[in-house]
Amino acid sequence: MKRIAVLTSGGDAPGMNAAIRAVVRKAISEGIEIYGINHGYAGMVAGDIFPLTSASVGDKIGRGGTFLYSARYPEFKYEEGQLAGIEQLKKFGIEGVVVIGGDGSYHGAMRLTEHGFPAVGLPGTIDNDIVGTDFTIGFDTAVSTVVDALDKIRDTSSSHNRTFVVEVMGRNAGDIALNAGIAAGADDICIPEKEFKFENVVNNINKGYEKGKNHHIIVLAEGVMSGEEFATKLKEAGYEGDLRVSVLGHIQRGGSPTARDRVLASRMGARAVELLRDGIGGVAVGIHNEELVESPILGTPEEGALFSLTEEGGIKVNNPHKAGLELYR
Ligand code: F6P
Repeated sequence: MKRIAVLTSGGDAPGMNAAIRAVVRKAISEGIEIYGINHGYAGMVAGDIFPLTSASVGDKIGRGGTFLYSARYPEFKYEEGQLAGIEQLKKFGIEGVVVIGGDGSYHGAMRLTEHGFPAVGLPGTIDNDIVGTDFTIGFDTAVSTVVDALDKIRDTSSSHNRTFVVEVMGRNAGDIALNAGIAAGADDICIPEKEFKFENVVNNINKGYEKGKNHHIIVLAEGVMSGEEFATKLKEAGYEGDLRVSVLGHIQRGGSPTARDRVLASRMGARAVELLRDGIGGVAVGIHNEELVESPILGTPEEGALFSLTEEGGIKVNNPHKAGLELYR
């Protein structure tokens, strides 16, 4: 391939800039021209496409967000949008594309592949909910941000003998809650992947205070329910003490990426270019047991593919993601 492009799509994640940088610099070192696409698939369809140079990605590795902007663009699930995007890419002489994003972005990459246009997916989301990889770009940073917030909330919780429900992001996955909760020594962690009873949470809180604890932190994954709803149910289940809800929100998506996310993004970005250089598309890069791996985006579970098509043309996830429940005790 002589010319490829890169885009970021879906919710932004710390480390996306580091991944773009790696794609750009690796492409240049392989003698491949590299173009950026602004605003994800929306920019692809609109032709918001421009050449990138080595200097374009100078001083970007440590920056949060994505300088190519990101967008959710549901229209790309329709064939009309997909074909319009491919037409634009061809107009610019682009022969392959690196898509950095979450689940929805992979679906787009899969549709491009279906139409015979080579696309390589890189997992960029704080949620860690992407199949085909142990870790996504941005997850480590988000966990660190949440741990930092939990440490601070514990200070004030201890000063007032107050119970806190801290709602964290993750969409339907509990990975951020589970990992940050463990790292911050939370008293309870509630995630969608594991059932719990409100009565047990209430007992746990009361027992803690009876034993002389001066705080109680419950880390709640947003996929379970909202923090406010959780607090209401806790009271209905008999909790009578002082209670506050803290929703961490979008601070979890920002900030300078950790060293781990920068390295992961750099490794994955370089691999994506190697794949396109070798004419390979329709795959997603992941990391498994610290080794980079690739999986076909579309195919059968036996082929190790991430998604298959249903008879109606819908998308089915072959091996749905599960939070690292072995961490749960
Ligand atoms: O997928 C990343 C994420 O931050 C989720 O954790 C969260 O549910 C969602 O995006 C929020 O989306 P938005 O920024 O569009 O409100």
